Amino acid sequence: MKKIFIGADHGGFELKIELCDYLTTQFVEFEDLGIYSSDSVDYPDIASKVCNLVNKDNNSFGVLICGTGVGISIAANKHRNIRAALCHDTYTAKMARAHNDANVLCMGGRIIGKEVAKEILSVFLNVDFEGGRHKRRLDKITELEKTEFNSPV
Ligand code: RB5
Repeated sequence: MKKIFIGADHGGFELKIELCDYLTTQFVEFEDLGIYSSDSVDYPDIASKVCNLVNKDNNSFGVLICGTGVGISIAANKHRNIRAALCHDTYTAKMARAHNDANVLCMGGRIIGKEVAKEILSVFLNVDFEGGRHKRRLDKITELEKTEFNSPV
C-alpha cells in the first residue's frame, strides 16, 4: 500500500479530518501536511507541500482537498510528474488510476459527503494502472511537461 501525503485548505479542512480518521482505521500510513485549523490559507501552498513530497517518494500518493477541488487540482497539475485527478464519484476515481495513473486525488470538501469521499479514496488506493495504450498517452503528457514548462509564455 502506498503512503499518503494529505493536505487541505480551509474549504477542505473538515473533510481532511474525516479522511485521516478513515486512513487510520484502514491502517494506511499517512502524513497530514495541514492545515490544522479552519483559518484561511492559499490552496497552491498546500498543493506544493503535498506534490513535492509525492515527487520525492515513488511509493506514495497525494490527497488534496479544497472547497470545490478545482483550485487545488489546477495547482497540483502545475508540478512535474504530478497527475492530479478531481474526483467526486467512484467511477472517475477508478478510471483516474486505471487509465491515467493519477498519483494525486483531489476532492471538494464543500461538494461531497464524507462517506462518498471515503469510498472514492478507497477505490483510488486499490485500483492499479493498466498500462498498455494508456502508457503511450501518459508519455505524451510527460513530453508536454518538457516543452510547455520550458517555453516562454
Ligand atoms: C476558498 O474559499 C476556495 O476558493 C477554495 O477552497 C477552492 O474551492 C478553490 O478552488
